[in-house]
Amino acid sequence: MVKILENFSLKEKTTFAVESKARFFAEVRNESDMLSVLDSQAFQQSARYILGGGSNTLFADDFDGIVINPVNRGIKIIESNKKFILLEVEAGISWHNFVEIAIKNKFYGLENLALIPGNVGGAVAQNIGAYGSELKNFVFEVRGVDVASMEFKNLSAEECSFGYRNSIFKNELKNKFIITSAKFKLYRKPNVNLSYPELKKEVKKFPFIQPDPKYVFETVCRLRKSKLPDITQFPNAGSFFKNPVVTNDILERVKSKYPDVPFFPVENDLFKIPAGWLIEKAGWKGKRIGNVGTYEKHSLVIVNFGVKSGREIVDFARSIRNDVFEKFGIWLENEVEIVFNSDEKF
Ligand code: EPU
Repeated sequence: MVKILENFSLKEKTTFAVESKARFFAEVRNESDMLSVLDSQAFQQSARYILGGGSNTLFADDFDGIVINPVNRGIKIIESNKKFILLEVEAGISWHNFVEIAIKNKFYGLENLALIPGNVGGAVAQNIGAYGSELKNFVFEVRGVDVASMEFKNLSAEECSFGYRNSIFKNELKNKFIITSAKFKLYRKPNVNLSYPELKKEVKKFPFIQPDPKYVFETVCRLRKSKLPDITQFPNAGSFFKNPVVTNDILERVKSKYPDVPFFPVENDLFKIPAGWLIEKAGWKGKRIGNVGTYEKHSLVIVNFGVKSGREIVDFARSIRNDVFEKFGIWLENEVEIVFNSDEKF
């Protein structure tokens, strides 16, 4: 029988390590646990939040509702042939563990997505991405439960409406559908992706090495470790904001003052400007207010240097966002999921 705990401290459950409490908390190990939670009074009568590895969630306050935490960790081969392998991976496995298992078994594709914290369920909902790759490129199908009907369903990759750090699970299906597993299609033949300039540069430093997927995996791990803070020392949730997508006019305006602004064309005359660059230029790199600050090597990462309440992190992030808006006229959107206890918006 699944246990629904009360007044549960979430401090160990999110990488921001703030001391928020959930009124109810349930770990879900399998489909039958899931159905008992959905059937419970605690679930039927409360606000809900589905928590994965907790590496992209900030609880602003105590949460007067139920937090559901899928911890099922199986991996199953669904289909295998000379070209590809189809694996069903349960939501509670750590994403990086899954990537390691894939690489060790010579199932290729995920190497650019190494060392991203969090679990598979959250990784799917968030369509994680890094170093020129995105999870959506490898998803075949997503399985989960429809909360209203209590039925398990499979959604095709197309039905998931994946976008930049976005999917149907963060929009129409938010808190209405709980991901329990996903099927990934990985390849037998290595196909090294060095499209991300920083990764290419790092690999080209050693021209005598012919990069294979394992080498890309190791290089990505090294790059991430060199610039992103270790959560055990500096509690954080990775990039706090998304990289904004702007029109050519806005980009030209920024360029007129800063001709060296980095940018990446996206589509239809739109461009992505790194939020980390905007925040640095606005003077926030390595800046602290009390015990919250940006990481000294990467200003897109906000670090908890010792606050107890998520509120202080929210306030700090709002100050950054307002300042960037004043200086550049660009409004940053949060990448981290911020959970309020009311209908407050970030
Ligand atoms: N930059 C600065 N100052 C900073 C940080 C970055 O000028 O303080 C500049 C860099 O010099 C570079 C550009 O911004 O020219 C881009 O920086 P970086 O390569 O570090 O990537 P990012 O755009 O800041 C994104 C993802 C990361 C992912 C990296 C690598 C988002 C919101 N973030 O960061 O994902 O690891 O690319 O691919 O898209 C995450 O989602 O939590 C995350 C860490």
